[in-house]
Amino acid sequence: QADDLASTTLLATDKPVMIAPAMNVRMWLHDATQTNLATLRTRGITLVGPNDGDMACGEYGPGRMAEADEIVDAVIGWFGVSAPLAGRRALVTSGPTHEPIDPVRYIANRSSGRQGHAIATALARRGAATTLISGPTHLDDPAGVTVVHIETAREMLAACETALPADVAVCAAAVADWRAGTIADQKLKKDAGSVPTLTMAENPDILATLSAAGNSRPGLVVGFAAETENLVEHARAKLARKGCDWILANDVSPASGTFGGGDNTIHLVTAKAVEDWPRMSKTDVAERLADRIADHFGSPA
Ligand code: C5P
Repeated sequence: QADDLASTTLLATDKPVMIAPAMNVRMWLHDATQTNLATLRTRGITLVGPNDGDMACGEYGPGRMAEADEIVDAVIGWFGVSAPLAGRRALVTSGPTHEPIDPVRYIANRSSGRQGHAIATALARRGAATTLISGPTHLDDPAGVTVVHIETAREMLAACETALPADVAVCAAAVADWRAGTIADQKLKKDAGSVPTLTMAENPDILATLSAAGNSRPGLVVGFAAETENLVEHARAKLARKGCDWILANDVSPASGTFGGGDNTIHLVTAKAVEDWPRMSKTDVAERLADRIADHFGSPA
């Protein structure tokens, strides 16, 4: 029968199929089921589970669905993908922050969040338990990542602190350096002939705060430096000033098209060395960075 979405899709696909069946123990052991299973096996279908255990119906035996992580491991194993960051916890910031002026207005910047979201995805795909703390973007939440949505820099910092401990933190967010000194309770009114004066207050530096977090400092703290000139020189100064371990310096001069665009040109600056990466997509930057992070930690935790 192919009379529902799953079985119709399975009939129409030419891809390998893995199944994780679950049913009552007697249904599972029934000759009809076992004979049909034998047929499926001869067609090359792979099974995950079922396990022995308590059933929802109150009986006990084989028929319990494989645990979610067993299914994930089976899929990972099938693809031969390694999970070098399994057992590690990662924290990634992404997107802009919105700093309110009054209930309807805010200060923001042009960050799309694409780089940070791609990094969270790449770390999660390597097995890290990943929390993405993101300002407002137009992007979907990446699959397999815990996403915390915030608006302001101060909310981002609080969410980061809640997400600790972490083995690695990657600060890719374009955090607003300043917020409005006072946030009006009501919408500011336009009065003929008078223009409001905006006073600003400094926002917390999340990268610097995480880098100086004492016992809860992530083992590896990575920041970005968006520069329009003297990239490496400025990145080295930023590494020292912020106290982080690596800086990915990227060229955001208008000619580079980096902000809001799909590509990035990176120089990875550490205390010891500078690596120049060729211009590549933000996804490829994320993959390469995640590989470097996995190399840094060596074998899985
Ligand atoms: O000082 P600058 O903004 O150029 O530093 C950029 C790096 O610092 C990025 O990694 C950014 O995510 C981080 N940052 C931060 N909190 C701020 C400002 C920047 O985490 N308030």
